[in-house]
Amino acid sequence: GGTKLSPIMRINKDAEDFYHRVLLTTKAGERGMQYTKKRQLDSNTLEHFKIGYAPKEDNVLITYLRSKGYKDDDLAQSGLFVQSQDGRLFDRFRDRLIFPLEDENGHSIGFSGRRISNDKTEAKYMNSPETAVFTKSKVLFHFAEAKKAARSEGHLVLYEGYMDVIAAYKAGIKSGVASMGTSLTDDQVYMLRRVTPNIIVNYDGDDPGVHAEERAARMFSKDGDFNLGIVVLPEKLDPDEYVRKYGAEKYQGEVKGALTPTDFFLKRLAQKYNLDNDREKITYLDEAVKEISHVKNPVEQDMYLEKLSRSAGVSLNSLKANLARERRKNN
Ligand code: CTP
Ligand code: MN
Ligand code: MN
Ligand code: MN
Ligand code: MN
Repeated sequence: GGTKLSPIMRINKDAEDFYHRVLLTTKAGERGMQYTKKRQLDSNTLEHFKIGYAPKEDNVLITYLRSKGYKDDDLAQSGLFVQSQDGRLFDRFRDRLIFPLEDENGHSIGFSGRRISNDKTEAKYMNSPETAVFTKSKVLFHFAEAKKAARSEGHLVLYEGYMDVIAAYKAGIKSGVASMGTSLTDDQVYMLRRVTPNIIVNYDGDDPGVHAEERAARMFSKDGDFNLGIVVLPEKLDPDEYVRKYGAEKYQGEVKGALTPTDFFLKRLAQKYNLDNDREKITYLDEAVKEISHVKNPVEQDMYLEKLSRSAGVSLNSLKANLARERRKNN
């Protein structure tokens, strides 16, 4: 297109192309290529996500960008370099697999680099700092592409990590985005809502992931008109690990079987209490009815009550009486 990009956007774009080319075509990139094989990233995937590699060697990127005519004043604003006390610039990303981060129009605005070495003293992921064009809280990884896929898939799927979005993509779910960690922001919720009310949350199956799903479910519910599904994967697996272990088809089944937020919270509650103990069971049932009292659709509410009555072995009428009491409290 003929749109004129700001220097900082052009620098990011050129860096994206550079890192991608280094990975695919250079000797220095072989180390990165080995890692992509280990993570089972095929060439289609590398292409679609424009994955790249920042070599080990010092200042490869800055040398390249200077040779293209960029001035240090602009390069310093791009977030791609760290500045020493005396003002000299050094490549920020070294020996990392590079995931480009894009705005909602698909323009490259920043990067995240995954550590390739086994050196655990280095952060697993390193991101661009905030710049004039990159505000982390307002970015969803793969959002520009996922928006298009949402039209045919009818939903967006929210993940924690880059590799999860990528694994889902390979498994045929192309509407995946990542909040880039477990702290979803209001801005991200709003971005998703503008595309579709149908959101499936599939964070990692470990404790931090499931807690973050609880928090996300509360955030989406606060906003009202979402139609939310929640996937909790077994064995504390993350989606990438799940697909590797069980395959694409089973993974798609997990997504289709996403729980409603109420079922998700009820299931979490049931795990919190020892239901063989009567006093704990009474507390559990009180909490469960409280959860159900927030459901607005009366038919849906009834459905949960019936399920609860069956699973807990208490009469539907007693649960309904509890619900009526809860409702008076809510008002
Ligand atoms: N993250 C980050 N910085 C870290 C760790 C995590 O920004 N030091 C973000 C990344 O976006 C990452 C996401 O949080 O993708 C989820 O973290 P985690 O589950 O720990 O990583 P994975 O995505 O599973 O990464 P991998 O499979 O490569 O280990
Ligand atoms: Mn691009
Ligand atoms: Mn995680
Ligand atoms: Mn993970
Ligand atoms: Mn992972």
